[in-house]
This record gives sequence, C-alpha cells and structure tokens, in this order.
Amino acid sequence: MYDKVYIESYGCQMNLADSEVVCAILQREGYSIVDAVEDADYVMINTCAIRENAEQRIRKRVRELRALQSRHQQLRIGIFGCMAERLQSQLMAEEDNVSFVVGPDAYRRMPEILRQVREGVRTADTELSTTETYADIEPVRLHSNGISAFVSIMRGCQNYCAYCVVPYTRGRERSRDPETIVAEARQLFDNGYKEVTLLGQNVNSYRHSDAEEHMTSFPELMRRVAEISPLLRVRFATSHPKDLSDELLQVMAAYPNICRCIHLPVQSGSDRMLKLMNRHYTAQWYLDRVDAIRRYMPDCSITTDVIAGFCSETEEDHQATLDMFRRVRYDYAYMFKYSMRPDTFAHRHMVDDIDEAEKTRRLEEIIALQGQIALENNQKEIGRTYEVLVEGRSHRSDKQLFGRNSQNKVIVFDREDAQPGTYVNVTVTSCTAATLLGKIEK
Ligand code: 5AD
Ligand code: SF4
Repeated sequence: MYDKVYIESYGCQMNLADSEVVCAILQREGYSIVDAVEDADYVMINTCAIRENAEQRIRKRVRELRALQSRHQQLRIGIFGCMAERLQSQLMAEEDNVSFVVGPDAYRRMPEILRQVREGVRTADTELSTTETYADIEPVRLHSNGISAFVSIMRGCQNYCAYCVVPYTRGRERSRDPETIVAEARQLFDNGYKEVTLLGQNVNSYRHSDAEEHMTSFPELMRRVAEISPLLRVRFATSHPKDLSDELLQVMAAYPNICRCIHLPVQSGSDRMLKLMNRHYTAQWYLDRVDAIRRYMPDCSITTDVIAGFCSETEEDHQATLDMFRRVRYDYAYMFKYSMRPDTFAHRHMVDDIDEAEKTRRLEEIIALQGQIALENNQKEIGRTYEVLVEGRSHRSDKQLFGRNSQNKVIVFDREDAQPGTYVNVTVTSCTAATLLGKIEK
C-alpha cells in the first residue's frame, strides 16, 4: 500500500491554501499526510512561477530529492501549482525523476493521477478551468496554529499586468459561492479560530451571481463574514488598487473586527512605468486611494509590493518610486527586482534592459528607505495600546508571547497569564523596524 503523502509548498498564501485543498482531496481517498519527507511514498511540491529564482529553487529541490529516491525506490515525486502549469510536459522531459505534473485547476483528479503513477504511467494534467473554485471542499488546515486560517474566495486573474505570469498559470478570474465561504468561516469560528484571511489573486474584484442573478460584491461578502462574530477577525489579500472602492472602505470602517490593514501593491511610483505595466492607475490616483483609506480609517496600516528595474525604467522613474514610498509611508513592503517571465506581455513586446547590478542598486535603495520609514512608523507606536490576538510563544524567550494588532503588526510581550487564541490589551514600550515590544495592560 503506497498511501503516504508529503506536501511541500512554495510561493504565496494562495498556494498554502491550495495545498490544504489537495490534502483534503487525498485524505478523502484514504491517503495519509506525513510530516517527514523520509516517511513518504509521494513527495508533492506545490510550486511558484512568479520570479525566475522561485523556479530555480524548486528545480534544485527536485534534484536534491534524487538522493532520497535512490534510498527509497518506491518514492514518486509530483509537481503541482503555478510552475507545473507554466512548464507542463517540459518539466517531465527535463526532470526524469518527476512522475506527475498537475496544474492549479486539476486537483480533483489527484487521486486518479496517483493511481496511474502507481501503475507506472507518468501523467500530466494542466487543463485550466473557468469555473473550478473547490467550493465544496473543506480544506485540511496544514498551515494553521488553530487560531488563524486562510479561506480562498476567488481564483485566477485577468488583469494581465505586463510583467506577470499569474493569468497564464491560474487562468481566468472566478469567484466562489458566498454561501460556502460564509459557512467555512463560521465553521472555523465554531472550532475556536479567531481570525480568517480571505484570499484571492485579486480579492477585491470578487463578484458572484447566483442562479437567481443575485449578485454578491466583495464589500457585501466582507460584511457577511464580519457579522459571524465580533470576536472573529477578518483580513483579506491581495487587493488591486483599481478595485479598492469607497463602499469597501465604508464596510471596513463600520466593522471593528475587519482588520485595519490593506495590502495595496503599487509596483511603481512612475506614471510611465504604471502605464507600461498595464496597471490602470496613475501615481496620483493611487495616492487619492491612500487618502481615502486614511479618511475612513485613520489608524489603517498600508503595505505594498514594488518592482525595481522593470523594462526601460529610468533613474527618474526609480526616483518617482522612492517618492511614492516617502509619501505613503508604508508599514511594510515586499520589494522585488524585475524578473522577466516567458510569454508575458513584457516578454513578448519589451526589452529587459536594466542590468542586474543596476536593478540591485535600485532595489537596495528602496529597501533602505523603507527600513527607515518602518522604524519611524514603529517609533510613533510607543505609548499606544492595542488589542492583540495572541498567537503563540515568542521564539526569543519562553516567557514571552507574540501576537498581532488589527494593523497586522507583530507585538512581543511578557506572558503573564495570557493564553494563545485570546485577546489582550498591550501597550507598546519599544520597537525595532520589524517588531513592536510591549506589556499587557491589566
Ligand atoms: N518580477 C518581479 N516581481 C514580480 N511580481 C509579479 N511578477 C513579477 C516579476 N515578473 C511581484 C509583484 C506582485 C508580487 C506578488 O510579485 O510585485 O505584486
Ligand atoms: Fe507564485 Fe503567483 Fe502562483 Fe502564488 S499565484 S504561487 S505568487 S505564481
């Protein structure tokens, strides 16, 4: 009997959520999920294709697994997720120790694919779907502390940002039935969870019409999830600035349990770059959205993604990005060097003409500026008191716990008698650029 599966996940939160769906599909068929790679009959790698280095890392990992395969002849290796979709049969041709390759919309077929693999047939299924949302599958929570969980609410993306591979790896946008989303979130709350993060590549363009043509928008969905209980925190990721409506901000402001944190990828501060990137907004339009966020929720944190060195980016464009960072004063940023992805619009029509050293220089400048801003933002928090959801023990010391405030900032504090999964009020006493330190208010 070959029924033990080890799952390894790379990439975004959506991938973590997908691994939990795959796990549920396999468990239903009698497979068991193991924690140690040495115990597995199948090692399955959920892959990311967003940048070249993500793919290189996975290729390296697949090759490393050869050593394990030579000790365990029956071990089969499978690749699923975005890189599986992008490379399809090329992966099987180039990595002869891989037995199956499965794209993001074919996970229901996983048990059948594993059976074929056992019969000695190497298999690839990378068919994309316009409807699959895995709505009826209750994920097995692999990546959870029992306090906070992901709920996937939509899949795919059709914005076609010029640099981005996601529309090709995850197919067209589709939204999951809101009844199943609310039921899943309610069940999590009933099982003791205190926080759900609604996930989608483009989460705020969520839109679902039922058989009677009743439309549920993202703000409406947020309202329904927030109403499950005031003790359930609700987060969401990732938003596209073009879909960040006032209606959504009003709903957020009306429900204290919708967390005061918006991840709003800017990508560049230059109008010329934004146009080339096909982002559908200008720097000024983005800044107006930031103003709107702060008008409705003065205490809302804002985080972002940015790309340094996109095709034809000049020093002036780069300065405009730095300027954007100075104006918004983000609480956190994910910062990347542009990585050309095959088959994207930029690959087909533009030239990746900023050399590696220059990309690195620009990225480092953004990182240094953001580090400074994050530290200054955190220094302003000293003396403020926040409601913190306790998540667990701090890795620094057994006597300390950590949790997050509504703004998603990590706060470390002395344990006293607080328990994970409860809310405590913590006053900030000091900070670094990454963490706040505080003490529990009695
Ligand atoms: N190169 C570098 N960064 C990219 N991202 C998406 N595509 C690329 C690429 N080709 C970044 C964007 C996006 C985040 C998930 O990854 O900033 O928001
Ligand atoms: Fe990577 Fe994008 Fe796929 Fe997530 S959706 S795994 S970020 S390529």
